[in-house]
Amino acid sequence: MTTRKFTLTDASTGKTSTLEALSPTVGSDVLNIAPLAKDHGVFTFDPGFMSTAACESKITYIDGDKGILLYRGYPVEQLAAKSSFLEVAYLLIYGELPTAAALKEFTLSITRHTMINESLLRFYNGFHYDAHPMAQVSAVVASMAGFYHDSLDINNPRHREIFAHRIIAKMPTISAAAYKHMLGQPFIYPQNSLDYCSNLLHMFFAVPSEQYVVEPVAAKALDLLLILHADHEQNASTSTVRLAGSTGTNPYAAISSGIAALWGPSHGGANEAVLQMLEEIGTADAIPKFLARVKDKNDHTRLMGFGHRVYKNFDPRAKIIREACHAVLEKVGRPDNPLFELALRLEEIALSDEYFVSRKLYPNVDFYSGIIYSALGIPRDMFTVMFAIARTAGWVAHWQELISDPAMKIGRPRQLYTGPTARQYVDIATR
Ligand code: ACO
Repeated sequence: MTTRKFTLTDASTGKTSTLEALSPTVGSDVLNIAPLAKDHGVFTFDPGFMSTAACESKITYIDGDKGILLYRGYPVEQLAAKSSFLEVAYLLIYGELPTAAALKEFTLSITRHTMINESLLRFYNGFHYDAHPMAQVSAVVASMAGFYHDSLDINNPRHREIFAHRIIAKMPTISAAAYKHMLGQPFIYPQNSLDYCSNLLHMFFAVPSEQYVVEPVAAKALDLLLILHADHEQNASTSTVRLAGSTGTNPYAAISSGIAALWGPSHGGANEAVLQMLEEIGTADAIPKFLARVKDKNDHTRLMGFGHRVYKNFDPRAKIIREACHAVLEKVGRPDNPLFELALRLEEIALSDEYFVSRKLYPNVDFYSGIIYSALGIPRDMFTVMFAIARTAGWVAHWQELISDPAMKIGRPRQLYTGPTARQYVDIATR
């Protein structure tokens, strides 16, 4: 393939330079603008990274127009149908699907890392009972750097691997502890005889006074949701992990910053916001009035769970989750879930409305995920935590890719400065 070249001429000086496009294995070419600052003394301006690739990556590919999502080349639909979350986590981190023996070894390692240091458990007592679990989880993850010193040397591949296994293993435990703290219930220790999602549900819902049997349908549905949320290339939280990681900070700090970024309603917090929105709408006859507010530029209401920076077509994950909703609700005995019915109707009306059609706004992964979480008994303020558990696999893969790249540089964007020019300090008495 011939390399595409672009000629840039500074109209004021006539100086010309040639910019080369870098070719991906699949997807749009990426113009290398690195010479601009040296050749012309200009920076580029692209708020929100609308046209800017921040890094090279081999992990996940999205075609937003066609609604394609590939993890390491494998379509998410195939992984959702055939794989498990831990297998997908392995794929994201190591780049290949594991052999049966490798998966067994990886699963064993994850299982053996599920407990957290007892001192970390005492951190939760410092939180008020109604502290948002994302606040608790991000704080505890950041604090892990103070406990697990055998995984802090970012230049040591074995340290990086221990960190990777440890954080994936402990995220359910850390999250369940936050949940139990909110409820005022005793913490439930991990059970190594259970698989990843069954163990998670057990830690969430078991109490010491009764035997708790995990419903296999619930564990399977959760596993599916974790697969679908496991990675999504350079989204806001992953980019945050990369930017923090590029400073050489420890990996727990980098993941904690990703958790903080995920919390926002434009990103991972959308799943929580969708259920709030559905409850606010209440009944199908109130949909037109709600959509009128969404379309009113003076009203700041958004149709939560709709729209995506990259997908300008159906989010492939939303399709899978919508199907799973039917199956899960049937199996957990709540087939006539009114919020699901309302969501289906809302989707139908929005997809035939010119406002959403012309802006290519489709349901995203979080339009339906909260309905499944609710059916599994997971409370609304834990939804984004569930997302964080899943996305930890992607964050770890991206952090590993970043740190093992010999060409890694600290991420340091430039700016378009529009503040005052240099001026003299004025003494307080004369201001
Ligand atoms: N409801 C109503 N209008 C919307 C919505 C929405 N959900 N999303 C976008 N629009 C409109 C905007 O008002 C804008 O209209 P305009 O051209 O008339 O000004 C146009 O569509 C383009 O929207 P932008 O905000 O420029 O798109 P951007 O790519 O910056 O935002 C985002 C993407 C943040 C996801 C946005 O669609 C949104 O806020 N959606 C709701 C929140 C949500 O579901 N987030 C989860 C995303 S997926 C994830 O993180 C897992």
